[in-house]
Amino acid sequence: MTTFKRASIDRPAYTLPGQYFTSAEIFAREQEQIFARQWICVGRSADVPSAGDYRLVEIAGESLILLRDHNQRLCAYYNVCRHRGARLCTEMQGRLGETIVCPYHAWTYRLDGTLATARYMQDAPGFRREDWPLIGATVAEWDGFVFISLASQPVPFNQAFAPLIGKFQAWDVGRLQRGAQIVYEVAANWKLIVANYSECYHCPLIHPELVAVSPWQSGRNDLTSGPFLGGYMDLTHESMTLDGHTRRPPLPGLDPVDRRRVYYYSIFPNLLLSLHPDYVMAHRLLPRRPDATTVICEWYFAPEIATAADFDPSDAVEFWDRTNRQDWHVCELSQQGVSSRAYRPGPYAQSEGLLWQFDQEYLRVMAQE
Ligand code: FES
Ligand SMILES: [Fe+2]
Repeated sequence: MTTFKRASIDRPAYTLPGQYFTSAEIFAREQEQIFARQWICVGRSADVPSAGDYRLVEIAGESLILLRDHNQRLCAYYNVCRHRGARLCTEMQGRLGETIVCPYHAWTYRLDGTLATARYMQDAPGFRREDWPLIGATVAEWDGFVFISLASQPVPFNQAFAPLIGKFQAWDVGRLQRGAQIVYEVAANWKLIVANYSECYHCPLIHPELVAVSPWQSGRNDLTSGPFLGGYMDLTHESMTLDGHTRRPPLPGLDPVDRRRVYYYSIFPNLLLSLHPDYVMAHRLLPRRPDATTVICEWYFAPEIATAADFDPSDAVEFWDRTNRQDWHVCELSQQGVSSRAYRPGPYAQSEGLLWQFDQEYLRVMAQE
């Protein structure tokens, strides 16, 4: 039985110093310590549905080729030729067929990363084709999301994600299909966006539509420390839509209790997962600069709903698009203020316990050897 509680703070707790939101050095360290080491969500498994399909993804400033090989396995390779380093793929997505051919001197790689042919290299001293496969990264799949780790020896995914494995079974998230996507460019540090997601202290002020369907103080949490944080808020209506109604049935696995809740989880470092009675939404954060983040917001629906001729996700999309923009606005105001020489760490409210916990996890990972 899962126990939910308020994520309270038992001592005076303060926000991070301003440099964490403005400094190029700290941003670079985050890219190394966090994004180049942790498991990072790069999208959905359905983005590369068939053998030979690929998509370029970006982690820690690196371009990677995520592809499905002929055994239906997901693989990821650095988008870097082993000859003189040229980018191999330049289109954001496409179909490779059998091989990846470098556009420079046509070294040709198989989808398993091995070098198949290298023109006029047989007389190069010491050259052996088998010594020059593409450099791979580790891929894992969870509930239809694809994660990549650039670490040379990542913590096994099932170990790192143990608290989440099977947790959202009732929503059957892996089965759900994307029904909508909106990409936002937000002029704020990525951590301010996670922080904004993790409290509803601001809700009565900037989210009139949200508080009309979900009481802002109803939040209770079951994951209250570590890399995964969150819980639920009550729903007083059928779903999170502008009028609180939905024509979609609840997802079939949900019990009556879960049909009256929305669950919100932040998945360190950059995935925000929101589970509604009739759809699931994810925000994926791509830090661009200390003060700039790309946010990819996607809505997922039951396949029988998403493929119906009259499928119309606009009620859910408009609700969250409006709410997202309200949030980005205050995140940008916050970015402007934390960049000021007058800014000092400010005190967290009791209702901001998850933010403080996120900071603790963030500082722990940043300090790792
Ligand atoms: S750089 Fe790729 S074949 Fe020369
Ligand atoms: Fe908000």
